[in-house]
Amino acid sequence: MALQLGDNAPNFTAQTTEGTIDFYTWLGNGWGILFSHPKDFTPVCTTELGTVAKLRDRFAQRNVKVIAVSVDTVENHRGWIGDINETQACTMNFPIIGDPDRKVADLYGMIHPNASDTLTVRCVFVIGPDRKIKLTLTYPASTGRNFDEILRVIDSLQLTAKHKVATPANWQDGDDCIVIPAVSNEEATDLFPKGFTEVKPYLRTTPQPNR
Ligand code: BEZ
Repeated sequence: MALQLGDNAPNFTAQTTEGTIDFYTWLGNGWGILFSHPKDFTPVCTTELGTVAKLRDRFAQRNVKVIAVSVDTVENHRGWIGDINETQACTMNFPIIGDPDRKVADLYGMIHPNASDTLTVRCVFVIGPDRKIKLTLTYPASTGRNFDEILRVIDSLQLTAKHKVATPANWQDGDDCIVIPAVSNEEATDLFPKGFTEVKPYLRTTPQPNR
């Protein structure tokens, strides 16, 4: 069965462009993103990896480590990195897993046979410090991902892990949040000193609590 939210992110050992890693040891105590690429030396993937390299500081500010995987060898990845740096005006700064035997791709269900028998689709797994899966995304090979959206989701995941709020549609860091239904008005008064607004009994908003 496919990995689902709340499942343990499976551990593995793999060769990467930054040496052999044990995934759990590499993750440490922070957050992690594991994301797959259909193939090396392909155009959309090239732009994605360059984009992520340029977002390094924004992931680091959130204590998030990033690692990519594709079903090519580390040697191939090393050759491709030169092209990524050249064409995307970046310096690659995170590891790419070499997965020619599809060990990681199969473990995480990244090959969708009705899309392609041999290449991974574009998966994203956000993994929390408890090593559980907090978010999954699946895109087809033809559509590059929006990494600003992934940062936005991480802001929501980290906020809602600590405070009894949820985030509304199109929420951005700093916007008002929603008081979760399990919190009574009495508890909300204690929890949210900036106050809350009751639009409906089930729809209550409050300023972002960690600001
Ligand atoms: C790409 O990254 O551009 C790509 C990879 C596989 C299939 C189609 C596009």
